[in-house]
Amino acid sequence: MSHRLHRSIEEDPLSTCTTKNDFTDFVSQVEQGAGYVRPRAFGIGIASLSSTGALLDTWFPFPNHEANYGTAAVLAEAFGYTHRHATFYNFSVSVIDDILTRFAWCEGDGTTHHNIVVLKRLRTLLLHSSSPTGKVGVVCFIPPDDHDDGARHGVADAYLRLHLLSHRLVKPHGIKLNDIFSTLPNNYWTNEGPIAEEDLETRRFEATARRYPLLVHGRDKFPPLLDYVQPTGVRIADASRVRLGAYLGQGSTVMHEGFVNFNAGTLGVSMVEGRISSGVVVGTNSDIGGGASIMGTLSGGGKMIISIGEHCLIGANGGIGISLGDRCTIEAGLYVTASTKVLLEDGTVVKAATLSGHSDMLFIRDSQSGAVNMRRPKGHVTLNDTLHKNT
Ligand SMILES: CC(C)(COP(=O)(O)OP(=O)(O)OC[C@H]1O[C@@H](n2cnc3c(N)ncnc32)[C@H](O)[C@@H]1OP(=O)(O)O)[C@@H](O)C(=O)NCCC(=O)NCCS
Repeated sequence: MSHRLHRSIEEDPLSTCTTKNDFTDFVSQVEQGAGYVRPRAFGIGIASLSSTGALLDTWFPFPNHEANYGTAAVLAEAFGYTHRHATFYNFSVSVIDDILTRFAWCEGDGTTHHNIVVLKRLRTLLLHSSSPTGKVGVVCFIPPDDHDDGARHGVADAYLRLHLLSHRLVKPHGIKLNDIFSTLPNNYWTNEGPIAEEDLETRRFEATARRYPLLVHGRDKFPPLLDYVQPTGVRIADASRVRLGAYLGQGSTVMHEGFVNFNAGTLGVSMVEGRISSGVVVGTNSDIGGGASIMGTLSGGGKMIISIGEHCLIGANGGIGISLGDRCTIEAGLYVTASTKVLLEDGTVVKAATLSGHSDMLFIRDSQSGAVNMRRPKGHVTLNDTLHKNT
């Protein structure tokens, strides 16, 4: 896959960049190359392989989005890339050493260059015989014209997209994920990381021989977010309830029964005790009550992509199948679907879908008549600050 354009340092004096100017010259030389485009996103990752060489996952410690184009150019040159949905698996210590010569100028400049840290750690991993087996270094690029369905470009590409979301570099719906289910392998997720079906029995025997049991936490296409990303300022009471690819805003708290799917999440401070389905975005200062749910579009036939505004409350065991603007409340235990007939204060009856996206609504089921009413609320939910400091 890789057509290595990389030249040795002796052949190309520009390769060793002892000053920032050397580096800038080197980068512009690469960027002026035929067909080169700056990537929208790229990352240096560490992937797990099955015994047959299939890629199971990729961890990108520091994904880049619309940034660090110089590093992108260095990597592109090293791997002989023509930047269009490219993934390279042939990282070796010598390739890393060559790459690091381009960054000689910034050694000891007192700044943390995250991509260099990742490269050095990957180098150590590749060097040490005690490194976990079945790991391989990966570099993956997503081009700016990511028009077609990106997830078809492989497992590492799909994982990079999920990382971009969970690192808050793109918001839900901000990057293509259309074909992700057919791209991601259905792994066993264990205390030893992802394991392919064909390897599970062997690995269990090996673990038994070591007297440490192999613990299987689940079998799924998506791993828990916290196994790959540490978003700042969040609490996630049960790691298994938030999938990689979820976007959790600073100050969000996800309690034990809360759930957040990929390509979904909270934009800021929120309390999540209910379920946020794929595609759903919840605005700042909103509360998804215990056992509540918000309809998604992955299964069940729903097509409407739902968003919840700011200062909204979905009451305990309630649910919503339309979008809400700001300052809306759903009574505990009431599920408002798009087709629910709603009695308005002026006596007219409308389908809830016609109210989708409106602000300042209180939905309540009259406990005597059973009719679902929409009233103008007297106030709106305010969250308990101390529950969201999350330091
Ligand atoms: C819908 C809700 C917000 C209304 O709360 P509220 O605005 O404080 O309303 P109140 O309970 O004070 O009731 C106001 C009036 O409406 C009446 N009322 C309330 N719910 C009613 C219902 N379902 N049917 C008929 N009347 C109702 C009350 O009896 C009261 O009447 P009154 O003025 O004659 O005394 C609240 O019932 C609710 O469901 N909150 C959700 C809380 C939650 O689940 N949080 C998440 C925790 S995990």
